[in-house]
This record gives sequence, C-alpha cells and structure tokens, in this order.
Amino acid sequence: MKKITIVGAGRVGESTAHNLAKHEICREVMLIDIKEGMPQGAALDIQESSPIYDFDTKLSGSNDLKDLVGSEMVVITAGVPRKPGMSRSDVLETNLAVLYGIVDEVLKHAPKAMLLVVSNPVDVLTYAAWKRSGFKRSHVFGMAGVLDSARMASFVALETGFSVKDVNAMVLGGHGDSMVPMTRFTTINGIPIEHFLSKEQIDKIVKRTREGGAEILSLRKTASAYDAPGAAVTSMIDAISHNRRHILPAVAVLDGEYGLNDICMGVPCVFGEQGMEKVIELPLIPQEATEFKRSADAVRTDLVKLKK
Ligand code: 2OP
Repeated sequence: MKKITIVGAGRVGESTAHNLAKHEICREVMLIDIKEGMPQGAALDIQESSPIYDFDTKLSGSNDLKDLVGSEMVVITAGVPRKPGMSRSDVLETNLAVLYGIVDEVLKHAPKAMLLVVSNPVDVLTYAAWKRSGFKRSHVFGMAGVLDSARMASFVALETGFSVKDVNAMVLGGHGDSMVPMTRFTTINGIPIEHFLSKEQIDKIVKRTREGGAEILSLRKTASAYDAPGAAVTSMIDAISHNRRHILPAVAVLDGEYGLNDICMGVPCVFGEQGMEKVIELPLIPQEATEFKRSADAVRTDLVKLKK
C-alpha cells in the first residue's frame, strides 16, 4: 500500500503507526488528531526510530482531516476511551459524532479507501461507518476478534506452559461482555485444549478473555490497552496489503450469515487485497448458537440507539 491514515493519535493510533512502519506495510503513514502538535510529535518520534529498526516508511502528522487525501486505508481510533467502571457502550454517543465527522471527510478526500474501525463500541461504530459511507461491506470492518483471540491464546499459553506459537484461539461475537470465546475451535498444535486443561481452567480463561480489556484498564487506570490492539490492527492490514487471504476474526457487516442481517459483529473473515473478502460461516453447536445470539442481542441494543 502507498498511504495509510490513522485518525486518532492516542496510544492505539501511535502503536499502530509504529507497527505499520516497522513492518514496512506501506510507504506512508499519516497520523491525524485534533490535538495540536500531538500527531506531528508522534510521527517524528517514530520516524526517528527508522535508522534503528531499518524502515523506509515515511510518517507525518496533521491536525487537518483533509490530509487523509489519497489514502487506501483509514484506521479510525479517534474518540473518547472508557474509564474504569464504564462499559464500551457508555462512550457510544460521543464517539459516533466523531466517527461521522471522519467518514464524511473520507467520502470527500479518499472515497476508495477501506475503513478499519477500532474506536468503541466497535461493532456499532463499524455498522455506523458502513451506513454513513455507503461503501461495500468488503471495505468497512472493525478490529476486535484478533485482539480478543490473542488475549485468549496468551492465557492458554500461560496456563499450559506451551509455546504460544502452537496456540490457535478464536473469539467471535460482539466486542463486549457477551463476546463468545470459541473453546471448541481453540487448539494447541491442532489438539483441542480440553486435552490439556480442565473445565475449571478453561472457564477461567474464557472469563479472563471476556474481561481482558477491563483488566488492562483497571491496572493502568488512566489508559486502556494499546500494545495488543495496535498489533492486532497491524496484522489485519498486513493480510490486506500482502493479499495473504488470512482468516482472521473481525467485525464484519453480516448479510444473512449466522442468520443475521443488518448488523456488524465478530465472525471469521478472509482478508486479502479486496479487504474483507468473505465471511466464514461455521456450523455452531446449540450452546455456541445461544451465546452468539445473546451477543447479537447485546449489539442490537446499541444499534437501536443509533437508529433513533
Ligand atoms: C480493549 O478490549 C480497548 O476495547 C479495547 O482493550
């Protein structure tokens, strides 16, 4: 890719910019934020690491959304983060207004761009970005499942003591308390985790995964997670820019898959040069289907607020 813009130069935006540059996923990263000097400072700081990490990606910062002009990908991390004790839905109203402002500028200055939504509540904001932009669904998606699955895989590796490289975890559903860690599809080198872990251990991992974002927030108190989210966004863009056709769980617009329409939530998707190229529909067993439906209902509760 030539140019990727990240709107929101907070910690997730900055971490994503650094990862994109370090891995030379594009030629140019533009960081945009309303705070004067902040995106410029972040861009320069990352640029100054280029001789050490040995990358050619150029970084710049701006306070003007027009500078997203010509981007092939716009990552939206802008908005207010939640504070300890808040749910992701509590920041919907504020972040929706911010998102609409960004999407409108994308329509003017980069109408062919793909939109990758990171701001919370991510399922609802991805839906809002899709509706507002009128883009095809392959060009609008959100980051949550890669992060939630990475958290789950980390916990499985820590609990079993095995290499995380052997662990494949999958978390679907909405990015909230109702997310659905899919233990049946979580394996260690292809071996189901039940072979190594008791039900109690698995239940503990599922709970910790669901509360993964809140755990980091309660420890840091003034900041949510940003290192793992930045890595997760980067892996999605890497799949697209290298046309890897990588299967990753992500927030996608559903068009009949899983019996759902007119909603966005976390499902396994194929990512390649066309963006979110395909939703993979897994046959769910009754318990998974119940949890998936509960998660969809939770997302719909926020979607209704959007339509008011
Ligand atoms: C998280 O789960 C911020 O929602 C993000 O950490």
